[in-house]
Amino acid sequence: MSKRKLVAGNWKMNGQRAMADSLVRGIRSALAAKPYEVDVAICPPFHLLADVGAAISGTAMKLGAQDCSALADGAYTGDISATQLRDMACDYVILGHSERREVHAETSEQVAAKMAAAHKAGLTVIVCVGEKDAKMNAITRTAIVKEQIAKSLSDSADAKNTVIAYEPVWAIGTGLTPTNDDITTMHRMIAGVLPDKVKGARILYGGSVKADNAETILKLPEVDGALVGGASLKKDDFLKIIAAAS
Ligand code: PGA
Repeated sequence: MSKRKLVAGNWKMNGQRAMADSLVRGIRSALAAKPYEVDVAICPPFHLLADVGAAISGTAMKLGAQDCSALADGAYTGDISATQLRDMACDYVILGHSERREVHAETSEQVAAKMAAAHKAGLTVIVCVGEKDAKMNAITRTAIVKEQIAKSLSDSADAKNTVIAYEPVWAIGTGLTPTNDDITTMHRMIAGVLPDKVKGARILYGGSVKADNAETILKLPEVDGALVGGASLKKDDFLKIIAAAS
């Protein structure tokens, strides 16, 4: 059965207050004029959560963050807890993005601990998995993603509070994408290895989703939405991707 799709914009460490305000208000008024049957989430950097939250309040758009601590509170300089994100009206948090796995050497076990904290706070987690190298053969690729899934999901994960984002690392920010067949195969594999409680969770594709390839990717029956980086910072491109998901 095909699910309602989710398009989530991952702004990464981009954006200032003025830019965020005009971008989100532009998206908001376009969606008010022409709504789509698609769930939309915006995941700005922490300092923009309040502004973006205010700009989307009263709409169906949801707010998301890009990481959280596994810990509840205390002396952890620079960290932010899942409860604090919930306090900022976040509904989503992205965990285990490849940039965090690489730049911050985050392990899947750490991702699972963060996920448990996020679920406890009432957040829906978008957990990212994906192989690094485009040249990896299908067996290696599959083994890597399977292991990431097995280790990154907390016991609290279920089909509602968890969204999987398959993001081949080599496709992120490069303009390269896997073939439709490869996306389909990986999404089927992921759907097949999810624990029973998580079966049926939405599986997004991420990695160079753009206005001009969104339709081809999002019409694949196995793809339940997109995690969008660069193109989510451009109003018209992001809107085209949302339209393609409807
Ligand atoms: P991209 O990033 O769309 O810029 O490739 C996707 C992501 O990293 O989530």
